Amino acid sequence: MNEVYHIPAMLKETIEGLAIKPERTYVDVTFGGGGHSRAILNKLHELEIGKLEIGHLYSFDQDSDALANAIDDERWTFVHSNFRYLRNWMDYYGVEHIDGLLADLGVSFHHFDCPERGFSFRFSAPLDMRMNQTAKRTAADIVNSYSEEELARIFWLYGELKNGRGIAKNICRARTQKPIERTEDLVAASRIPAEMSKELARLFQALRIEVNDEMGALREMLVAARDLLRPGGRIVVLTYHSLEDRLVKNFLRSGNLEGTIEKDFYGNNLSPFDLIEKGREASPEEVARNPRARSAKLRVAAKH
Ligand SMILES: C[S@@+](CC[C@H](N)C(=O)[O-])C[C@H]1O[C@@H](n2cnc3c(N)ncnc32)[C@H](O)[C@@H]1O
Repeated sequence: MNEVYHIPAMLKETIEGLAIKPERTYVDVTFGGGGHSRAILNKLHELEIGKLEIGHLYSFDQDSDALANAIDDERWTFVHSNFRYLRNWMDYYGVEHIDGLLADLGVSFHHFDCPERGFSFRFSAPLDMRMNQTAKRTAADIVNSYSEEELARIFWLYGELKNGRGIAKNICRARTQKPIERTEDLVAASRIPAEMSKELARLFQALRIEVNDEMGALREMLVAARDLLRPGGRIVVLTYHSLEDRLVKNFLRSGNLEGTIEKDFYGNNLSPFDLIEKGREASPEEVARNPRARSAKLRVAAKH
């Protein structure tokens, strides 16, 4: 593959956050270009005479393009699946507990830079945006079938678009003339001026999150991770937008999806996690090298 598939964000910090024990079991639920997975494998024991235990890494990705980055290593297993099925796959492989999990959420550079996938308003392409190319519902299906109310809700929630209502209205009006099938149809229908690229990026982000049910998958994965982690095990999450960041933050603070902090008689938080990193950002040097790391927030917790 010639293009840069992805440049991993906050690589050093995420690996430190995992506090890897070389003979233990780790999961990278977002393999992508494999930058983080390779760094994890570098820390695990290799098969050697005299060593009884070797480490193992399971890497998930729902996108079949990620298979082009497969790693030839007996300590590595690729799971071509949505990470919402983490629990089922660990059961399948007979893994009762894991020692660390990394989630580097969202899409890879490859998704944005691959015109025909329809993730970017920079290219003319079918309005697709499925990370899993075999999933049924595309972004075009959503913009042509959701009600104005539903569209306004996702633009506001997932794109934080202040004018989400107006944009939803414009789209619904435009689609009565002709279906919205391509990226440029959506740009035109939204009536967001081309020079307002931040707004367009937010519109596309909102749709992408809905197409891939990113919030639903994240919720299911967090619960499975909590239950699979061994005491002392680490959960390391890189988030890229405020809604997913809030969910992860509240989950790690409370240990539940509602974010309800339960306390014992003495007022101690009963969450199963100790917080280690609370939203650390990439250094200015890293952002200068890799501008796409600027929105990353690192959250790390240890299970006790
Ligand atoms: C930000 S990239 C990860 C990049 C990776 N850390 C690296 O070093 O190259 C996110 C990856 O996770 C995958 N992904 C996102 N959501 C997923 C989900 N629910 N299940 C499985 N894979 C998912 C995407 O297809 C993408 O390849």
